[in-house]
Amino acid sequence: KRLLPLLAGVALLLSACGRADLSALNPQGPVAQSQYDLMKLSISIMILVVVVVFAIAFYVLIRFRRRPGNDKIPVQVEGNHKLEIIWTVIPLILLVILGIPTIQTVFALAEDYSRDENAVVVKVTAHLYWWEFEYPQHGVVTAQELVIPTNAKIAIEAKTADVLHSFWIPALAGKIDTNPGGNVNRMFFEAPKPGIYYGKCAELCGPSHALMDFKVKAVEPASFENWVNAMKAPAQLPSDPAIAEVFENKCLSCHAVGELGGPAFPNLTGMGSRESVAGILLNTEEPKYENEGSTYENLYRWIQDPQAIKPGNAMPKVDLTEEELEGISRYLAELKLEGFNPAELEGN
Ligand code: CUA
Repeated sequence: KRLLPLLAGVALLLSACGRADLSALNPQGPVAQSQYDLMKLSISIMILVVVVVFAIAFYVLIRFRRRPGNDKIPVQVEGNHKLEIIWTVIPLILLVILGIPTIQTVFALAEDYSRDENAVVVKVTAHLYWWEFEYPQHGVVTAQELVIPTNAKIAIEAKTADVLHSFWIPALAGKIDTNPGGNVNRMFFEAPKPGIYYGKCAELCGPSHALMDFKVKAVEPASFENWVNAMKAPAQLPSDPAIAEVFENKCLSCHAVGELGGPAFPNLTGMGSRESVAGILLNTEEPKYENEGSTYENLYRWIQDPQAIKPGNAMPKVDLTEEELEGISRYLAELKLEGFNPAELEGN
């Protein structure tokens, strides 16, 4: 009777971890699949060991239990060579069964595709609390949304601008740490079909660690080319000269839009075409949850008080009038990427 609430509690906890879009148990693409296969193999072996050991233990407990009227001391046994050899050899065999595919997978996944001309190289830089994505082959920099072509090797070179973070897209690949001290960690993955894959920072890095989300937008290769071209199109300042002046002075001192401003802080090129603001406020015309709204609404909320949304982030509360705040939010929401209209992207 006490077990039931306990089991219910555990089930509740596990169901909270069960977001399919953030689960490594829903592998997409060859890299995640090979990691998942290894997980299945090792868990199967573990379950086999547990079942056999528990079966023997319970059998012995019951079969040789003390019975009424039987006070004899049982035969005392000291060592049994045959048994000892058996219980040494069986684990050895299990370790070999587990070890061979593990080593094969480790080496296969350590392959460096950054010089493969068919691969798309992305330099990932983690910042408190956002992600920067640079495409050296294409001359493009963006933030929070990693746009990639489907069925191509994406070669990641990950580093950090500040503290230790960890780059993780559960459905596509295992995580890699971004280590302070300038070292670069590499991995690669492939997205099999168009869609949005969800990514997270997987290393406690500060008060907004849990909000350090990003998205992977996998699109058809032709659509990826459109995206690159749209990202390189000449940038326009806000059409209202007063708003343009404020935007240049107060925003472009850090941010970049195309070739304007920057380059230190999140690049805002094509902001209006992104799925979210700051990685967490979802852009949707019909809000499904309390903290969702249109791109304009979310940009407005974000610029008005960035610390209220992501505590501890580097964006200061900028002193703006109501008209300036509205004008800048409107301008950014309308910064769409021309010609980049991938077919509807569903979450994976
Ligand atoms: Cu970055 Cu946790």
